[in-house]
Amino acid sequence: MAEVAEKPEAAAFDEVAAGTPAVKTVELTKRFGRTVALAGLSMTVPRGEVFGFLGPNGAGKTTAVKLLLGLLTPTSGEGWLLGKRLGDLGARRRIGYLPELFRYQAWLSAAEVLALHCELAPLPRSSWKDEIRTVLDTVGLTDRANDKIGTFSKGMQQRLGLGAALLGEPELVFLDEPTSALDPVGRHDVREVIRGLASRGTAVFLNSHLLSEVEQVCDRVAVVDHGRVIASGTMDDLLSGTTVRVRVTGLTQADKNKLSGFGRLDDEGDSLTFASLDAGRVPELVSSIVAMGGRVYEVAPRHQTLEDRFLQLLEDEEK
Ligand SMILES: Nc1ncnc2c1ncn2[C@@H]1O[C@H](COP(=O)(O)OP(=O)(O)OP(=O)(O)O)[C@@H](O)[C@H]1O
Ligand SMILES: [Mg+2]
Repeated sequence: MAEVAEKPEAAAFDEVAAGTPAVKTVELTKRFGRTVALAGLSMTVPRGEVFGFLGPNGAGKTTAVKLLLGLLTPTSGEGWLLGKRLGDLGARRRIGYLPELFRYQAWLSAAEVLALHCELAPLPRSSWKDEIRTVLDTVGLTDRANDKIGTFSKGMQQRLGLGAALLGEPELVFLDEPTSALDPVGRHDVREVIRGLASRGTAVFLNSHLLSEVEQVCDRVAVVDHGRVIASGTMDDLLSGTTVRVRVTGLTQADKNKLSGFGRLDDEGDSLTFASLDAGRVPELVSSIVAMGGRVYEVAPRHQTLEDRFLQLLEDEEK
């Protein structure tokens, strides 16, 4: 025991935290008066993975992030970051955070904002210059380092916020809607930054509505609705089904209703889309349509997208 106590703080931290998940929560709950923002969230985010936290507006995503960061206190339940209980200062020093509603000091330059964050972190002063230069380069703001934030577009401010979240090479980075203000090039750049973080072993907790983006970058996702996880797993676990679009004429509404047993049916007249279909049933679907007297012009199967799956999960929840 004495041996452990004599070790430097960081070494002791590593020993305790090694092998623990990046994030773990058990029945984490948050109420605001009568509103239940989070209704018993239990989840684990492994180290070094990109984790997508998805859900409709008001599902509880930002509340979950704020609880994990210690910016809100839970009504009940428990959680750990990097093996330490929520609120632990040692763990908080090892994380980065880009808030959903960011606003930086208009009168400071980009480099000054980053220096302020270095001081708040706190990082050793001798490292500030290199840290600031590196993150400005990562987020593509090197040319604007000395310009005042008041002259920045919203997207530039969001890039700066991402840069602030990366200072000090954190082990875990929370990004709450990091591309909400960005153009397609900016979104692409942020995906590259996230991939870069993952490749050096940093875990990323990504809140996003942009499902195609999440699909491209995340190893694992959890879908939250009304403050509860309704589905979670790796992208492969979640996206096992096939979606098939069939162009067909000559079917009555009653025929179409019978076909809805094949998968969630989106009926756009002559174009029927079946979601979450087992790929092996496509021939059976086509022969059923033909047997009903339907004339088939096109059958286009594609892998289920995260958006297909997300909509289906929320629809199932409504039922
Ligand atoms: N400070 C607060 N006071 C009262 N209610 C709050 C507060 N913060 C959040 N809520 C409520 O908690 C619920 C979850 O909100 P939260 O911001 O976590 O959702 P979200 O999933 O991040 O949504 P969005 O996709 O719109 O960002 C909502 O019903 C919201 O109104
Ligand atoms: Mg939010």
